[in-house]
Amino acid sequence: MNSPVRERADHHRTAREPVGGVGRAHAKAILLGEHTVVHGTPAIAFPLPTLSVRAIARPGTAGAATVLPEGHFGFLAGDPESGRHTLSGPRVAVEEALRRWGLTDRIVDVVVECDIPLARGLGSSAACAGAAVRATADLFGRTVDPVTLYELVQVGEQIAHGRASGIDASAVLAQGPIRFHGGTATALDIGLDAVLVIADTGVPGSTQHAVAGVRQVLERDPGAARRTLARADELIDAAVHDLSAGHAAALGKSMLAFQELLSELGVSTTHIDTLVTAALDAGAYGAKLTGAGLGGCVLALTEPAEAASVSAALRRAGAAQTWTVPTRGMRADAGSPTPSTPERGADR
Ligand code: PMV
Repeated sequence: MNSPVRERADHHRTAREPVGGVGRAHAKAILLGEHTVVHGTPAIAFPLPTLSVRAIARPGTAGAATVLPEGHFGFLAGDPESGRHTLSGPRVAVEEALRRWGLTDRIVDVVVECDIPLARGLGSSAACAGAAVRATADLFGRTVDPVTLYELVQVGEQIAHGRASGIDASAVLAQGPIRFHGGTATALDIGLDAVLVIADTGVPGSTQHAVAGVRQVLERDPGAARRTLARADELIDAAVHDLSAGHAAALGKSMLAFQELLSELGVSTTHIDTLVTAALDAGAYGAKLTGAGLGGCVLALTEPAEAASVSAALRRAGAAQTWTVPTRGMRADAGSPTPSTPERGADR
């Protein structure tokens, strides 16, 4: 992630003082479609509400940022003297919001408390930007409609990713699983009773670097690129069907096939491959990297009864931490942040 900047602390306000505006967002996991979504395929993502971000926005003073408690990030948006040479997605998103609201004379002091591990493919940069914009809107009593919020987070994401598809901006603001395609999110119907196990390799990845590497691979051989993207399309379509029909074994196979495709695109690593194998050996239906890769996280699909043993196997194989997310009870997202179209209404 492009981390928010720690500003100079010239005076001694702390983040524990009475709040100004408050905003929240959460992590996401991409089930299928990372990287190929940048090149026009759909992608499927889930919100991870238990990994969340909380931002507090207060009126700020030039050169005088809040003293940050341990583990917090902060930045002064709208202060031209502060962190001028440091580009931060969340900061740029808030500054774009101030510009749109005609508040370019204001300085906003934003403090972010982020439970999401940074640079692990779980959407930390988009979630921090979403929470920061929501907090700033709350501070100024503005209502931000879902499309504007998505656009503002995307302004920050273009900095974090180089060229962002919008899947992260969409998923960290969504309340349920989505199929994302061409800037539009559609709520997904989930009829699957399984568990997603997420395992952190402990290695930070650079989305920008990974996205640039995939572009190089695709540009090298346009014919092969077309076949790869067509294959990705097929796997994602099949996964949408399997999620709805509850076909866990078939979905696991699609995940493995997508992992192979991502390996060919150069974004897997030995560590990721080891975790994928460990998950399969422990009985997972399928496993793959999630997010940009080159580090980050692995996502495995298991029977509910196998989730604990798959988690334990992943930790034994070197995962720094694991999280489990049941698919049962994931609700269709009524509040999807981007304009919704009927299911499968927007294919390439
Ligand atoms: O930043 P990450 O690791 O969550 O990855 C985002 C997904 C990509 O497809 C790699 C990039 C994008 O903008 O879609």
